[in-house]
Amino acid sequence: MKLNRSTVQRIVIGISGGIAAYKTVGVIRELQKRGYRNIETILTANGARFVTPVTLGAITGKVPYTDTFESGRALSHISLVQPCGILAVVPATANTVAKFSGGIADDFLSTAYLACTGPVLVAPSMNAEMYRHPVTVRNLTQLKKDGVHVLDPDAGYLACGTEGPGRMPDSEIVADMIEYAMHRHIGGPFSGKKVLVVSGGTAEPVDPVRTLTNRSSGRMGKALAEAFALAGAEVEVIAGTGTVRYPAYCPLTRIETASQMLDAVLEKATEADIVVMAAAVADYTPAKPEDEKKKKDKNDLKLELKPTVDILKTLGSRYAGSKILVGFAAETSNVTEYAKKKLTEKKADLIVGNQVGVPDSGFGAEKSRGTLVSRDGTVEPFNTVRKDELAFHIAAKVAAMMELN
Ligand SMILES: Cc1cc2nc3c(=O)[nH]c(=O)nc-3n(C[C@H](O)[C@H](O)[C@H](O)COP(=O)(O)O)c2cc1C
Repeated sequence: MKLNRSTVQRIVIGISGGIAAYKTVGVIRELQKRGYRNIETILTANGARFVTPVTLGAITGKVPYTDTFESGRALSHISLVQPCGILAVVPATANTVAKFSGGIADDFLSTAYLACTGPVLVAPSMNAEMYRHPVTVRNLTQLKKDGVHVLDPDAGYLACGTEGPGRMPDSEIVADMIEYAMHRHIGGPFSGKKVLVVSGGTAEPVDPVRTLTNRSSGRMGKALAEAFALAGAEVEVIAGTGTVRYPAYCPLTRIETASQMLDAVLEKATEADIVVMAAAVADYTPAKPEDEKKKKDKNDLKLELKPTVDILKTLGSRYAGSKILVGFAAETSNVTEYAKKKLTEKKADLIVGNQVGVPDSGFGAEKSRGTLVSRDGTVEPFNTVRKDELAFHIAAKVAAMMELN
């Protein structure tokens, strides 16, 4: 089985006349970065006052739809959305939300909404009072009942100079929610399965201002969370240190130390069908962290360290045979050998041996090379693949192990 982002389906972006329309260009660029090239746009007449058809045409390579009665494109309010991967209205004005909720079809966007056979997402964005108005609340409630994905706006400083709910979330978050809604509709082998992804590094306190940590960025964990979720799973993430932003559709628990990670993992693993330990967990922690900041002096400093609890091993001893356990081994040498050893010692189902300490693989790198070692004895080397591709490949291997399709 091969798993991937489903990038071939058409994404239709509707843009109505709200101030956040300037951000929609960023959302389209973000989707394009993720490989979605089949993007069409619909612009309301008032939307066109905020962002021009020229801009949208230039970035998508396709002329936006603006007029239901445009000669030569009549009936495209139907063909555009029957079928489509998703219709996402970004931003959705109070007016457009009201029209959708009431079934008014008096322009291209509202008519296409009624005709749409794919999933629909709206990102309402407006002044806080407009958003809180009982009519808007009622209309959004109705849209949710009608099966529309409503992306709640952020609260914060609004273009009108006031503070409150109504801000359109950042482009990456909107793009996350669009691709998630689209993939939920498509389904996938992991539908109904729960996956716990543990990601990033840990930071062990030396004193109140210093920690012992590692170079993990969380990139691989993020890619795995995306791959399993886009392949249908309910994914939860536990993350330590690292710079990545995790997908907006995954509940996220933040931890710092190896011991906090252990507690969080043991609590959340009970519910999971699959646990993916992609975290770089400290093997040792300071035995006696100082209560006060350690002062500098001229003497050498010796730090006493004690071993931490091995999280994957603990999971293996509790859940081998009842849950699928995927572990990672970051190694500077003998990657395959160590991965095989780890698989047996930790009672895991799959170990991803990762080459670290080289520029094109491992911590922080976009790519990775190493070996996949499975419990059935298969050893599969991989050479400098992108972490997102590797994540989908790992998900496909797990699906095959579980005989899911
Ligand atoms: C400068 C300006 C900014 C506006 N921003 C918003 C907004 O953020 N959200 C909203 O719901 N309406 C906003 N409006 C009002 C809408 O443009 C108006 O309700 C319009 O009828 C919406 O048309 P449409 O939904 O067909 O695009 C704004 C109007 C102006 C003049």
